[in-house]
Amino acid sequence: MFILGTRPEVIKLAPIIKILKKCDNSLCIVCAMAQHREMMDTALEVFKIVPNYDANLMKKNQTLNDITRGVLTKIESILLAEKPDIVFVQGDTTTAFAGALATFYQKIPIAHVEAGLRSENMYFPFPEEINRRLITNLATFHFAPTEKNADNLLASGVKKENILVTGNTVIDALSMVLSDNYVFPEKILNEIDYSKKIILLTAHRREYWGECMKEVFKAIKDIIAENPDTELIFPVHLNPIVSDTAKEVFGPMDRVHLIEPLDYKSFVNLMNKVYLILTDSGGIQEEAPSLGKPVIVIRNETERHEAVEAGTVKIAGVDYDNVYNITKDLLTNTEIYSKMAKSVSPYGDGKAAERIFDFLCSYLNKGVTQEE
Ligand code: UD1
Ligand code: UDP
Repeated sequence: MFILGTRPEVIKLAPIIKILKKCDNSLCIVCAMAQHREMMDTALEVFKIVPNYDANLMKKNQTLNDITRGVLTKIESILLAEKPDIVFVQGDTTTAFAGALATFYQKIPIAHVEAGLRSENMYFPFPEEINRRLITNLATFHFAPTEKNADNLLASGVKKENILVTGNTVIDALSMVLSDNYVFPEKILNEIDYSKKIILLTAHRREYWGECMKEVFKAIKDIIAENPDTELIFPVHLNPIVSDTAKEVFGPMDRVHLIEPLDYKSFVNLMNKVYLILTDSGGIQEEAPSLGKPVIVIRNETERHEAVEAGTVKIAGVDYDNVYNITKDLLTNTEIYSKMAKSVSPYGDGKAAERIFDFLCSYLNKGVTQEE
C-alpha cells in the first residue's frame, strides 16, 4: 500500500507504483490523502495513477494538526480493511509522518522512500526535519537516495541490513516525462524567447512565510527590473499565503509571469529550457543538477548537500543582499555560470524504483519479520 498526499509524494512514488501495477502476483493499493487537492491530482494525472482511496483532506489554510488528525483517522479503517503486507511512505510531509504513525499502530512494516535526509536543524525545514526523523524511528525499511543519507540513518541507529542505497526516484520520474521539442499546453510558455536569460522561481516553505519570502521576492523583482535581457517565470504555489505575497511584491510587471502551478511534464521541460532556477523546493534541487541547470536555493540550509558539493546548487539564504548579489553574479559572470551549469547526477541513475522493487520482491518472498 502507498500512502501519499502532496505533489512531490506522487512524483517520487509514481515510478515504484508503475512497476508494481505491472506485477501479476501483487496487489498495489494507492491511498491518496489529498493533503494537496489540485496539485496532487495534476501529478496523478501525469502518471495515470487512479487512487483506490481518496480521503479528500485538503482545507484552505489547513494547519499541521488538521492534516495529522485527518490522516490518522482516515488511514486506520483502510489499514484494517486491506491488511497490507507493507506500507510505503515518501519523504517528509505530514501525510508521510501521520501515515507512518497510523501504520505503526497496526504493526505493519513501513518502507520509507527518500530516507536519511537531514538538515540538522529541527525548525528548518519545519516541520519536515522532524517528520523525517520520526519516520526513521517508525519504519522498518529505509531507501536512502545517497551514501550520505545511509550514513545518517546508521547514525540514527538503523540496522545496516534494513538500509538500501537506491538513488532518488525523482530521477526515474524525470526521465519518464522529459522530451525533445516539447510543446507546452500553456500558450505563454511557447511564446517566451528562451535565448534570453529566463529565471524560473518556485517558493513555498512554511518557515519563510512573511517577511523573509517578501525580501527574497523583492531581490528578484529588482534583478528583473534592472536587467532587460531577463524574464521571470513563477508558477505560484496554491497556498494563499504564498500567492498573496507573490501578487503583493511582483504585481503586474513587465517580463514577470506569475502563472498557475504547472503539471510535472510541463515543469520538467520548462526547467530544461531556462537559464537559471531559484527555489526553496527539495525536489527541484535534486532534478536540476541532472539537467545542468544552476540552482540558487532561497533557504538558509539544505538537506541536499550532495548537489551543493557537486557545485550545481548554491545556498543564498533569504537575505535581500545575498539573493540579489548571487543572482546578479550568475547573470553577469559567465565563468561562475559555466562552473555551475554542468550536468551531474548526485541523486542516481534513474533506476531507484527497480532497486526498491527487487528489494521488495525478495522481502515478500522471504517473509522477513519486522525489526524489533
Ligand atoms: C506541503 C508539505 C511540504 C511539501 C509541500 C510540497 C507539510 C507540512 N508540508 O507544504 O513538506 O514540500 O507540500 O508542495 O507536509 N493548496 C491548495 N491546493 C493544492 C495544494 C495546496 O489550495 O493543491 C493550499 C491550501 O490552502 C492548503 C495550503 O495550500 O491549505 C497549504 O498546503 P499544505 O499541504 O498544508 O502545505 P504546503 O506548503 O503545500
Ligand atoms: N513541480 C511541478 N510543477 C510546478 C512546480 C514544481 O510539477 O509548478 C515539481 C518539481 O519538478 C518537483 C516537485 O514538483 O519534482 C517539487 O514539489 P514542491 O517544490 O512543491 O515540494 P518539495 O520538493 O519542496 O517537497
